[in-house]
Amino acid sequence: MSSTILDNPYYIKKDNFEGVQYRLANWWFNKVNLDDYKDRPIKYLEIGTFFGANLLSVADSYGLHKDSKLYCIDPWIDYKDYPEYKDDQSIIYNGFLHLLTFQMPIYIS
Ligand SMILES: C[S@@+](CC[C@H](N)C(=O)[O-])C[C@H]1O[C@@H](n2cnc3c(N)ncnc32)[C@H](O)[C@@H]1O
Repeated sequence: MSSTILDNPYYIKKDNFEGVQYRLANWWFNKVNLDDYKDRPIKYLEIGTFFGANLLSVADSYGLHKDSKLYCIDPWIDYKDYPEYKDDQSIIYNGFLHLLTFQMPIYIS
């Protein structure tokens, strides 16, 4: 029987997020002072965005200033160096689009 990413033990479904999430922005809270970013825009680049869990957590913490800009890069395709998500990339990409459409407090350009 083949398994998909939906069987991944880290796959979660919450009100504001559905997908796999690993380490989020709160990992940095005791290292990078959140208060320093309250009134300050950030420019943030995430390489390897996946479902977007971490991107959302950055948007909801360090990136709250209205002039913050968050950029992300991910091929969201199967390739041989990354076999663990083979055949799951359309689920992952659609999860990311759903997150952007309904949860991201940002404009999409
Ligand atoms: C473990 S996931 C990232 C998790 C994500 N940052 C998070 O916290 O939710 C790794 C991601 O990196 C992407 N990736 C792998 N190689 C890449 C590359 N060379 N450039 C951009 N993204 C890449 C994969 O497609 C996958 O979505």
